[in-house]
Amino acid sequence: MVREKWGTKLGFMLAAMGSAVGLGNIWRFSFVAGNNGGGAFLLLYLAFVILLGVPLLLAEVSIGRKAESDVVGSFKKLAPNTPWYLTGFFGIASSFLILSFYAVVAGWAIFYFWNYLNGSYFTSPEVGYEGAFGQFISHSWHPIAWTALFMILTIVIVLSGVKKGIEAANKIFMPLLALILIGLAFFSLSLDGASEGVKFLFQPDWTALSDPSIYIAALGQAFFSLSLGMGAMLTYGSYLRKENKLPSAALGIGIMDTFFAVISGLVIFPAVFAFGIDPSSGPPLVFITLPSIFEQMPMGGIVGLVFFFALILASLSSSVSILEVPTAYFMRILGWTRFATSVVMGAIMFVMGIGVSLGFGIWSGVTPIGDLNILDSMDYIASNILLPLGGLSMALLIGWYFSKSEALEATDFTGSSIGQIWYYLVKFVTPVMILLIFLNKLGVI
Ligand code: PHE
Repeated sequence: MVREKWGTKLGFMLAAMGSAVGLGNIWRFSFVAGNNGGGAFLLLYLAFVILLGVPLLLAEVSIGRKAESDVVGSFKKLAPNTPWYLTGFFGIASSFLILSFYAVVAGWAIFYFWNYLNGSYFTSPEVGYEGAFGQFISHSWHPIAWTALFMILTIVIVLSGVKKGIEAANKIFMPLLALILIGLAFFSLSLDGASEGVKFLFQPDWTALSDPSIYIAALGQAFFSLSLGMGAMLTYGSYLRKENKLPSAALGIGIMDTFFAVISGLVIFPAVFAFGIDPSSGPPLVFITLPSIFEQMPMGGIVGLVFFFALILASLSSSVSILEVPTAYFMRILGWTRFATSVVMGAIMFVMGIGVSLGFGIWSGVTPIGDLNILDSMDYIASNILLPLGGLSMALLIGWYFSKSEALEATDFTGSSIGQIWYYLVKFVTPVMILLIFLNKLGVI
């Protein structure tokens, strides 16, 4: 069977940016930053994106392009007769863990879209937005129905091949989402009390850095937000043609992704302080803050409608890249069609998603890790542990298994002086940083 290819380099860029920009930038970024003290977290996060995120992104895409295979197959091909390929299963495992909660949260976004469409969120519900949201997510089947809808949309796109739907939709909706976010940021900044939010985001409280959890949280957020370490970018890279140059693509994706995160921080935190919401409210944070902003805005109902529509599309362009990881692998291994494979994988993720959703209702007492509920526990294992481990494995492959000239060639860096810096970052800085953060968190150092 001939493997598929992207139509154009722009098609790849849009798909990869679409993968990177999603709930991670708006929903996950705000609550993780809110939980970890704001400013200090933002600085660490930016440092990780620059030192480790963008260099690793380049490494990951280049592995896929060179091997032209899925996340397990690529390691097998490039490092034959070594156990390297086993780390590909971290990627497969994290795709299941992440998409099953991602679909639940994206389902919440569709529910909000629906409420703006039928007008019920134009004014505050009787119980307030916080109350209404709490009632909704704790319902036994209501949120699950929206999760199902999101999962079906994701499967339909993946089974029809990523090219047409996603490439086309991204071209319109990414710029639209950016425009709305910029507009919202200005509005949010004009609210009474907004300056507290700006301080929270940009004035680092250095004492926050003494807690080892903030490092692993910032590392996990960098991986999650850039879609790194799972093999999503690797798989997308495997559909690239050799003549497409990689370094500028990786940089472009990194800049776009960071832009969306910082802008959504500027939307959320001024509003959080203006409306007296607790910045460490966790995963529900944006779902409580945003409707409060929309209600205060002129034409807020329309803005809310368009915003949630764009957010759903941004989520879809990320979720397809997640589902593509196990789909590409199991298609090859089991010899199934794309259709059958994506339906079966998506169905398994949906069933896991039911558990995630019930974790906000009848299973709210279930806390697999410490006091973390089901969603937070799955997110913790996947984003803070499995993704960085996957990234570590890729960095080691490029830095230590490949020769230097092979590594530079794979990334179109032959003869480039920036390539030298990139090489040493991936060979030494990335692995050492990931290991130090793990050891620090485990209390070993
Ligand atoms: N980067 C996506 C987001 O920010 C999520 C994602 C994680 C996608 C891992 C692919 C792989 O929403």
